[in-house]
Order: sequence, then structure tokens, then C-alpha cells
Amino acid sequence: MSEGLEGVIAARTVLSDVDGARGRLVIRGYAVEDLAGRTRYEEAAHLLFDGFFDEAPSDLAAVLGEARARVFAEVGALDDGLARRDPVEAMRALLARLPDGDDLGTALLLIAAPAVFTPAVLRVAAGNTPIAPDPALSHAADILRMTRGAPATDAEAAALDAYLVTVCDHGLNASTFAARVVASTRAGLTSSVLAGLSALKGPLHGGAPGPVIDMLDAIGTPRNARPWLERALARGDRLMGFGHRIYRVRDPRADALKAAVRTLASATGAAPGRLAFAEAVEQAALEILREHKPDRPLDTNVEFYTALLLEALGLPPASFTCVFAMGRVAGWLAHAREQLAGGRLIRPQSVYVGPEVRVAA
Ligand code: CMC
Repeated sequence: MSEGLEGVIAARTVLSDVDGARGRLVIRGYAVEDLAGRTRYEEAAHLLFDGFFDEAPSDLAAVLGEARARVFAEVGALDDGLARRDPVEAMRALLARLPDGDDLGTALLLIAAPAVFTPAVLRVAAGNTPIAPDPALSHAADILRMTRGAPATDAEAAALDAYLVTVCDHGLNASTFAARVVASTRAGLTSSVLAGLSALKGPLHGGAPGPVIDMLDAIGTPRNARPWLERALARGDRLMGFGHRIYRVRDPRADALKAAVRTLASATGAAPGRLAFAEAVEQAALEILREHKPDRPLDTNVEFYTALLLEALGLPPASFTCVFAMGRVAGWLAHAREQLAGGRLIRPQSVYVGPEVRVAA
């Protein structure tokens, strides 16, 4: 038995390859750092979907725009009580209203759902009216426009595209595995995505970037980094944005996202102070983690620079996990289809360690 299924191979996939020793992520034959910054999210979704849906058009942008417009009808179910919940819970509740299915139409609605529902949840929670999608815009530009109520610049849309592409797929991570388990029962794509979203929510997976901002804000100054981080480890806390089950070196997505933060800052003329501060905290954390756990290589993971990038885009930390879902949903869907196409029911076994058999009273 392997605790946490560490080292267990549970699927064959053509979708992505995570090489934890070399710090390399390949998505359908492309290194992640080559895709991020050069590819729109629609193109990355098409790359993942290719061969899994008979009727997938070569350009997903137009059909995805229409799917955003269609899914907006569900926003009517968003009342004030739901909007006050954690944004992931509110977005998940709206997504759960979509019917199950296995076709491209269902998949497009499911890609559109986090992108449309999250801005609506944030706006209603802030006392504003949800903004309807503009199907003519790119997915990333429309997400930013629906969130802020004002158009995004090309540089901002490109930065969000870089993020969504960077996180679109990542081997058999916990949420993708959950999505594949549900797909293996033939429950349908909406059920698979709900399983993925629920697994993503936890701080050990997709819930980490919001707490990264909390950590940076609590540290406040570079000089305070070391004492603050040492106190956190002494309390038994985990440092958010560091460590990974598979990577024993730096997560390649961290550098892809750091590059996107730099590009965005130079396009907007933003002061480099926040990035320099984050780099100082990162260096202190890496040093302290090496001292704290000399036998376990703990390096920067995707979530550290995710937090910086999404913050620079003006997105609230409470929404970061929802934004992660906006990207990863294409991966969940492609994996679900791949599982359906070739996989058997996923049904592992457990070792019983409970009481001996006894006679019921
Ligand atoms: N800070 C402090 N100690 C850590 C950290 C950390 N970030 N990560 C691992 N450790 C320690 C851990 O306490 C354990 O020590 P011990 O054996 O004494 O209990 C040892 O390193 C091994 O940890 P583990 O929990 O067995 O490793 P894992 O493979 O189960 O955990 C992880 C991977 C990502 C859950 C973990 O590194 C972690 O909790 N990181 C912080 C949360 C975080 O950044 N999450 C985002 C993950 S990346 C997004 C994604 O791809 O899903």
C-alpha cells in the first residue's frame, strides 16, 4: 500500500507529462513555458480536446463565446445568500445546475461556467449587477471585463491567458484524478467537473494562492521574512506556495508565471516593488525550508507566482481558486473523455484494519 498513492501509476494519458526530477511539464508535446505567453486559452483547450470530441472546430473561440452567453442564463439563480458564500462554493452551486452529458456542447458550457459564474459571484457579493458575456471577445479578455465592468487591456488579457494556459493540465493531480474516477463510472462530464472542482478547493491543491497573499501581507517587509517564516514553521504550519508531491526541483510553472508577472508589469508601468519583495520572501523561504527539512527537497510551486500574477490583474484573493478552475477545467474535461474512451471503472482496494469480526448484539 502507498500512502496518498505516492508513486502509483493509475492512468495512461496523451495529455500531459510531469517530470518531477527534471522540473519539466509537457502538454500534448509542448513544453509549458513555450505555450504560456504564446497561446490563447482557447487554443490550449483545443489542443487538449483534439481527438476526444468528434465535432471540435479548429477554432474554439467563437463556440466558447456562445457557450459563455448561454451559461449566463444560470446567473439568475444567484441570490445574495449564495453570493456571500466562499466564491468556490457559490460558483460550484451554479455549475451544479448544468445538466450532465458527454458531448462537446456540454464540455463548452463547463469551460464557460467558472469564467462566467465567478465574475457574477464577485459582483453580486460587492452589491453590483452581473455583467453579461461578450461572445466576440477572447475568453481571457471577457473574464476580466465581466469581473471589473471595464475592458481589459491587451497586456492584461495576455497575462491572464498565460496563467490559464500554464495551469490547463498537469498529469494526474488530485482534482484530475477525482474527475477521472467519476468519469470512469460514466456519470457524465458535469459530475466529473464537480468532482475536480471540489478536490481543487483544498489548500494542499488549488486553494493555496489566496493564502500566499495573506502570507506576503503578514510578512510586510523583506527584513521580517525570515523571523515570520521561522515562527510559522515552528508552529507546524506549511509555507504556502512551496513543496510538491511530484517535483523535487522547482516547478516549471513558477518561472512561466514569474515571466508573465514581469511582462505585465513592464506593459502597465507598475512599480517592480511587489515582485522584488516576493522574490526576497521566496529566497528566505527556500533557505529556511532547506534547513528545516534537509532530506526533503522543497522548492517553489506554481501557487507562489500565481498569487502575484492574479493580484497584479486586480483579481481578489478570494477568487484565486475559481480562476485556477477556469484554466484547469479544460484538463478535467479532456481527462474525463480519455478515461471514458479507454478506461475501466476505477475501483482500488483497501486493507481492513478494523476490529475482528464479532457477533451483533
Ligand atoms: N512547508 C513546510 N513543510 C512542508 C511543506 C511546506 N510547504 N511541504 C511539505 N512539507 C514537509 C511536510 O511537513 C512533511 O514533513 P514531515 O514528514 O515531517 O511531516 C514533508 O515535507 C513531506 O510532506 P508531505 O505532506 O508528505 O508531501 P506531499 O507530497 O504529501 O505534499 C504538498 C505536497 C503540495 C501538499 C505540500 O508540499 C504542501 O502542503 N505545500 C503547501 C501547500 C501548497 O503550496 N499547495 C499547492 C500545491 S501546488 C498546486 C498543485 O499542483 O496542486
